[in-house]
Amino acid sequence: MLITFEGIDGAGKSTQIKKLQILLQKEGLESITLREPGGTEVAEKIRSILLESRHEISPVGELLLFSATRSELVQQVILPALQKGIIVILDRFYDSTRAYQGYGRGIDLSILETIISLSTYNLKPDVTFYLDIKPEEALIRKFSEKSLPLAFENDDLDRMERSGLEFFRKVRNGYLDIIRLEPQRFTVLNALEPPVVLHRQIIEKLRTKIPALEARNHY
Ligand code: TYD
Repeated sequence: MLITFEGIDGAGKSTQIKKLQILLQKEGLESITLREPGGTEVAEKIRSILLESRHEISPVGELLLFSATRSELVQQVILPALQKGIIVILDRFYDSTRAYQGYGRGIDLSILETIISLSTYNLKPDVTFYLDIKPEEALIRKFSEKSLPLAFENDDLDRMERSGLEFFRKVRNGYLDIIRLEPQRFTVLNALEPPVVLHRQIIEKLRTKIPALEARNHY
């Protein structure tokens, strides 16, 4: 089973992924947690090229580098794990490419689909959790309200995070569009809910998919 998490930067994916990982472990279910871009030696190297803030990369270059890391991860790690029956939790997958490179950077969506099917070997998630948050709210989580005007110049931000508020508005609207096209795969969560509430909603969804969880009452 392949479970993916999506959302704009600052939506709180990592907290939920960690909670889910701990729960699966407690239940004795074998799982691995991976993130994109990354997860293989080559993919981690490309990740640092992609995210280092001093690098200037064109939208097409960016698309191809993200896709290169994906094909490495899918082929070397994800497909072999799935074949062994291991549950794979993935922090971002091709919906990020659609939302960030397609809607955010403006690359033609039909070209994207060809590159996505090539780089994923046509692998699709069984379930995708999308944590929805407005970019302004995500920023307030990271910085105080007072320092917001200068937030995008903050040295702690990576290259993608520096793309500006307008970019993240497009990315969020992109996600909402993508979900409308494929509502059965997505579970949409309000990222402003407390982490424990979100965790409960995630488990509730997974109980219908993972028999071992169905038998238990977790809360
Ligand atoms: P990361 O630090 O992992 O961000 P987060 O914790 O928010 O997941 O950085 C990944 C960044 O790369 C993030 O800004 C989203 C972006 N991204 C794309 O633009 N396209 C993609 O295909 C993927 C996988 C990520």
